Amino acid sequence: MSSVWTKSGWRKKERIQMPEYTDLAALKEVEERLSSYPPLVFAGEARQLRKKLADVSVGKAFLLQGGDCAESFSEFNANQIRDTYKVMLQMAVVLTYGAKVPVVKIGRVAGQFAKPRSAATETVGGVELPSYRGDIINDIDFTAESRIPDPQRMLRAYTQAAASLNLLRAFSQGGFADIHHVHAWNQGFAKSAKASKKYQQLANRISDALDFMTAAGVNSDNSAALHTVNFYTSHEALLLEYEEALCRVDSTSGLPLAGSGHMIWIGDRTRQPDGAHVEFCSGVQNPIGLKCGPTISSDDLIRLIDKLNPENEAGRLTLIARFGAGKVGDYLPNLIKNVESEGRKVVWTCDPMHGNTIKSPSGYKTRPFDSILREVREFFAIHKAENTIPGGVHFEMTGKDVTECTGGVRAVTDEDLSDRYHTACDPRLNASQSLELAFLVSEELEHRAVAKREAM
Ligand code: PEP
Ligand code: CO
Repeated sequence: MSSVWTKSGWRKKERIQMPEYTDLAALKEVEERLSSYPPLVFAGEARQLRKKLADVSVGKAFLLQGGDCAESFSEFNANQIRDTYKVMLQMAVVLTYGAKVPVVKIGRVAGQFAKPRSAATETVGGVELPSYRGDIINDIDFTAESRIPDPQRMLRAYTQAAASLNLLRAFSQGGFADIHHVHAWNQGFAKSAKASKKYQQLANRISDALDFMTAAGVNSDNSAALHTVNFYTSHEALLLEYEEALCRVDSTSGLPLAGSGHMIWIGDRTRQPDGAHVEFCSGVQNPIGLKCGPTISSDDLIRLIDKLNPENEAGRLTLIARFGAGKVGDYLPNLIKNVESEGRKVVWTCDPMHGNTIKSPSGYKTRPFDSILREVREFFAIHKAENTIPGGVHFEMTGKDVTECTGGVRAVTDEDLSDRYHTACDPRLNASQSLELAFLVSEELEHRAVAKREAM
């Protein structure tokens, strides 16, 4: 980290994808207010996550990151948080079984409110208005007034994030996350009429493993690991006024911390090595994610790694590959080769969502389940060929039974999309599609774990 870094240093850099607030006095007041509020996370937690991600970087753990594309104010309620959390736990159990290593769980939650957009304006019925940029910035309603960026929204986002985090912490420590409950939910899924026989077989093998542990005397009463989980939060650090206002100096290490979430990431559109977003993220001690899409060059990537992880610390930087099914092979091998030859320690994870968005014939923005699965498989195959570690997966998903992505065992068709299409931004996997993916990814991981054991 450069010694001249300050939390407001990003203001001197070029910024893109950020709102132009018109009422600067109101903006300043909100920033001052947020600066006086407690941070949402504690630095020790961010350091703990960094250690776990260091394990991921060498294959001693696997990363599951998931949640909404964009959290919304109107969809904010306990059931929504619980349902997504529950599916992530279910996925984690299945993935743990396949990978034979702990699964690090990070939600896209409690701060995932600001969205980069491909166009600055949106035209409907001949009317052109500024694009919706996420509930922390403006309102999704298609009226001129709704689309004006309003700094007060940052306070509402903070409050929602604090309440979400409070519930997630209670779920994680209070018994809800007990592995036996989670497994029972999975059995329900695997037994459901349309699920494939192989999911049921995998669920049965997990039952056997749990029964074996119980017989050997390991149970929820004597082992906290079966009864509680660590769950971390993350979001794209796009709205830098919000990030700066929640930045704190940690009294233990004396280092700055983004107090807005455990991990923050830089989006594919805002990763200019000399831009504002990279500048802000370079100076905070949280684990940082970096989205890598088709336009990233190997040289840019190394420059970004130099800037974001100058000490080459394992667990500091997670590269989130999002190329699209059929395209991963054109980009990822070169990037991996370069990172390896430069000896950089990174976590590689696969976001199979953002490179696979299409417009369906019925006009909805959607993502086919098969493309998502294909991209994950390509990501694994490339890491196998390069002899590197496929560290994890990153999904846009929800615990609700939405119809936003097509395909899956309870096949969502193009005609179904209009039934329950609720996303405030990109299409998410629903609960059943998310679980199915976890079963399929677990299968891949199991092959890898078996091959590793046989090589020993
Ligand atoms: C996102 O994760 O919601 C997103 C906008 O991703 P990307 O920056 O990879 O396009
Ligand atoms: Co998205």
